[in-house]
Amino acid sequence: MLRLPKFDIVSIDDLSLGEIERIFVLADEFAAQLETGERLRIADGIIMATLFYEPSTRTRLSFEAAAHRLGGSVISSASMDASSAAKGETLADTVRVVSGYADLIVIRHPYDGAARVAADYARCPVINAGDGSREHPTQTLCDLYILRKKKGHLRGLTVAICGDLKFGRTVHSLIYALARFGANVVTVPNRGMEVPDYVLARLAVERNYSFSTVSLSELKSLAGGLDAMYLTPSAPHQMALFTGEMPVIKSAPAPGPAALDAFYVTRFQRERRTGQEREQAEYVHFDARALKTSRTAEAVVMHPLPRTDELAYELDTDPRAVYFEQAAAGVPVRMALIAWLLENAGAARARAAAPPLILKAENAPPCSNPNCISRHESRYLRPRFKPAPAVSRSELCLRCEFCERELKVQYVGHARSRRYYRFDESLLGYVRQWLEDGTLVVFETVKQAEEAGYEPYRRGPQREIMNADEISRAVETIAAQVIRDLPDLTRVSVVGIVSHGAVLAMRICEMIERQSGVRIPCAALDVFRGYDGLQPLGGAHSFEVEDRVIVLTDDVINSGWTVQRAMTTLWKMGRPAAMRLAVLVDRGHRAVPIRPNYVGKNVPTARNERVQVRLGEPAEDGGVKPADRVMLYSMVESLKEAAESA
Ligand code: NCD
Repeated sequence: MLRLPKFDIVSIDDLSLGEIERIFVLADEFAAQLETGERLRIADGIIMATLFYEPSTRTRLSFEAAAHRLGGSVISSASMDASSAAKGETLADTVRVVSGYADLIVIRHPYDGAARVAADYARCPVINAGDGSREHPTQTLCDLYILRKKKGHLRGLTVAICGDLKFGRTVHSLIYALARFGANVVTVPNRGMEVPDYVLARLAVERNYSFSTVSLSELKSLAGGLDAMYLTPSAPHQMALFTGEMPVIKSAPAPGPAALDAFYVTRFQRERRTGQEREQAEYVHFDARALKTSRTAEAVVMHPLPRTDELAYELDTDPRAVYFEQAAAGVPVRMALIAWLLENAGAARARAAAPPLILKAENAPPCSNPNCISRHESRYLRPRFKPAPAVSRSELCLRCEFCERELKVQYVGHARSRRYYRFDESLLGYVRQWLEDGTLVVFETVKQAEEAGYEPYRRGPQREIMNADEISRAVETIAAQVIRDLPDLTRVSVVGIVSHGAVLAMRICEMIERQSGVRIPCAALDVFRGYDGLQPLGGAHSFEVEDRVIVLTDDVINSGWTVQRAMTTLWKMGRPAAMRLAVLVDRGHRAVPIRPNYVGKNVPTARNERVQVRLGEPAEDGGVKPADRVMLYSMVESLKEAAESA
């Protein structure tokens, strides 16, 4: 029996240019055979499973038609709502099981990185038919196939890509491929729908590639016959993201007038947005006027479909409109892909790269992308990051293995010595070493490092600024102030920022109860864990934010970022009637306009000083519980500083 080698196509970059060319040759042959009605048995005995967790017309039906046309067969679930997914089965379990029934899995899923997970857990090859807003490699094969057919080649073409470039997955795969084929890209995003940074970073770092961007109004003036400024990027914003350390960009289109070879129009990805974001004030509407100028007269109009309102129906009869040909190419191109997998994927697999160095999950925060599969299937998936080329000298850049979103951290730690350092380039050698031996830990803030029990690389002189008595007096005073300020205590709830802020929150609640007899609801909030981070305290099962007067508490306020993050998280959970802020220590240096309402002690500090709080710390090894205290010390954070001060 024929078997397909385990070769997954998660990204368009999984295929080399030569392989894509070969697939196009096969697609031409299949297109001709489809014309003659010849029956093929190339995939006789092969079973393809289609797992579509999102709606689809073209991709799914053309994949299924392709398998049937090659003499193979298809198994599918009418809708994933009718499968065990609806009972809460994980993606990993589903693909593990289905790969026992089928030789090939084609998957579409709403979460970014889902195809990567499916590929990791399935025994058979997996083809990504769209994973969240990340990629859609086989649509790109159809797009390139038609574009090349119309223009004769891909190198040097200029393609204007319009619409929702943020969530449009077909766009991302297409740009990666056009970059490799040496084509020029001009993006025409709707406001707020620019190509995401992680895509730009991947293009710049891996392909040395960038593109220009024009606004919708510039496109409009072009459509009105005003040729001025086209392809002269008014705001090459992508470049501005990178510092001088970036390699010289070679593939950006030359400024000045140039003809356009194609418009690639895309739909507003409404389903990837929530609430107000779904309402679009202005969106590209593309019609025949755009093809009237000398620069656009030869351009073909492409669209991955389905269209909504962005593409005029009047264009359908124009020979330059090729979107239905793109859709029709779905069958021969996907036949070619399956045939190529049967013939060649074994050899292609052999070129698999060395396994990447991955940061241990327990040593990293969760991925910041709320749509990352690792956030949704956390029962078995742990966050995984690999190092990405640095853009700044003072940040360590890591990339999520699933969704590619970047995590930039300023603090790194060593898990055995339990020291943390401010990251700078001189640490790179150590960081790689620690990554290899599994001891690298990363922190977004000093607070996070300290809460994890890490000490700065070296401490300077230190002194106690509050002892246990002073701390409990401060708690008493704050409680009394809350009672005086907020007479209707039944509306008050206290939220403490994990971990010391939460200890403080409980103590303030206890004190309020002792002084007033009213029991106040209390919760702990872990700002690094977002939504999942709110834990009711004191035995309660739920905690309300809506319409409550929330007293947010933290041990130390410095820049104010943590408090701001906590406030944003709380607002997403409901609208409080009011918010108050209580802190044990205010050390100044605010970067955001936040002023605490209740302060235990004001301690003006220097920038290189740290305030360390010990509050309710458990006894070590059954010994005596250490007394509460607040210390102030100066710190030496990085190896470089240590060398400089030596
Ligand atoms: C696209 C998709 O699903 O990403 N459709 C397709 O496969 N042709 C484009 C879209 O839905 O906008």
